[in-house]
Amino acid sequence: MLPKIVVTGGCGYIGSHTIIELIESGRYDVISVDSCVRSTPETMDRVENITGVRVKNYRLDICDKEAFFKVFEENPDIVGIIHFAAYKAVGESVEQPLMYYRNNLGALANVLEACQRFSVPNLLFSSSCSVYGDVEHLPVSEATPMGQAMCPYAHTKQIGEGMIQSMAIPNPSTHSLILRYFNPVGAHISGMNGELSPDKPNNLIPIIMRVASGKQPQMTVFGTDYETRDGSCIRDYLHVSDIADAHVKAMDYLVEGRNQEVCEVFNLGSGNGVSVLEMLDATEKVIGRKLNYVLGERRPGDIPAIYGDSRRANELLGWHCKFNVEDMIASAWKWENYQDNNNI
Ligand code: NAD
Ligand code: WQD
Repeated sequence: MLPKIVVTGGCGYIGSHTIIELIESGRYDVISVDSCVRSTPETMDRVENITGVRVKNYRLDICDKEAFFKVFEENPDIVGIIHFAAYKAVGESVEQPLMYYRNNLGALANVLEACQRFSVPNLLFSSSCSVYGDVEHLPVSEATPMGQAMCPYAHTKQIGEGMIQSMAIPNPSTHSLILRYFNPVGAHISGMNGELSPDKPNNLIPIIMRVASGKQPQMTVFGTDYETRDGSCIRDYLHVSDIADAHVKAMDYLVEGRNQEVCEVFNLGSGNGVSVLEMLDATEKVIGRKLNYVLGERRPGDIPAIYGDSRRANELLGWHCKFNVEDMIASAWKWENYQDNNNI
């Protein structure tokens, strides 16, 4: 019997890619808990197409403690939780902050209580580089202090990290890792699974893909007067399957007892800053034609540049990114076409 992991948010973007990597590692058995409030249960069909394994999804709201705890009563052999389930849209969190605090922190409180009640030894938590706020010194390392949260979403990640650190005192038998992702992009290299983007996406790569596929006539580069090498914003993009692989390595690290503290923090980024204009240029090369974009005003709340120092994850988890910017774009483009051809 392989050690059993619960992935919350397993029907979502990063959760589903992580399930694929967990299965393909051959080291873990996986179940998912996802209400599909921001995804669809068909994700598990795509996971099965890629891996040949059918993963059970418990379709329930993690904020419903009674329903969530039943998963643990039914599966007393769970050795770890990877907690992805949360809302993640920055703009929406500004408009509906309470919805974000309730969902992201309510779900996390139930996950932490489940760890204690059902003696779950290992926990991974999806945090975000947004906890750093607008940083002065780049690259940001785990030692960089948290700054002012730029939106309620980022604040839920700051508070969530605090909740996990606090629970390490009364419940030291659950070992946890807080993983701060930079900008995960791209799709499974087969092009058969990726992010289901909303009708009006806000993130750069989904918007580029909409323009490339003709679903949107034009896009805007938000700001070309920043103090960066070409005036546009710089971010640390990394391939979603690299992030997923980091979770397998992080779970190995905990299961093998290699952690030195009850709760540790890791950045997950490529370590490279890439500008918006460089992303557009790389996309034009990958798809072989020009994209229709205009140079526009800054987007309120944007940080000029942020990229991470992920050496801690490289050294302690033995994790390194396998995919480059071209792979990120080519896989996203394959997924865009796959969705069009399969009515997704
Ligand atoms: P996603 O929206 O694709 O996946 C989240 C999943 O959680 C969805 O399938 C949704 O249905 C589910 N969910 C949400 N609330 C739930 C609840 N109360 N009960 C049950 N299921 C619930 O998002 P993602 O991009 O895969 O992000 C996963 C995690 O990584 C999130 O915690 C997010 O904040 C974090 N993160 C994402 C990014 C990014 O750019 N994608 C960057 C940094 C951190
Ligand atoms: C990237 C760059 C835009 C759209 C967000 C969250 C962050 C984290 C990752 C979860 C920026 C520019 C975009 C467009 C553009 N998520 N852009 N034209 O803002 O770095 O981070 O996702 O934790 O918390 O804030 O990502 O993809 O929205 O933007 O020029 O039409 O692309 O200005 O510089 P961001 P993004």
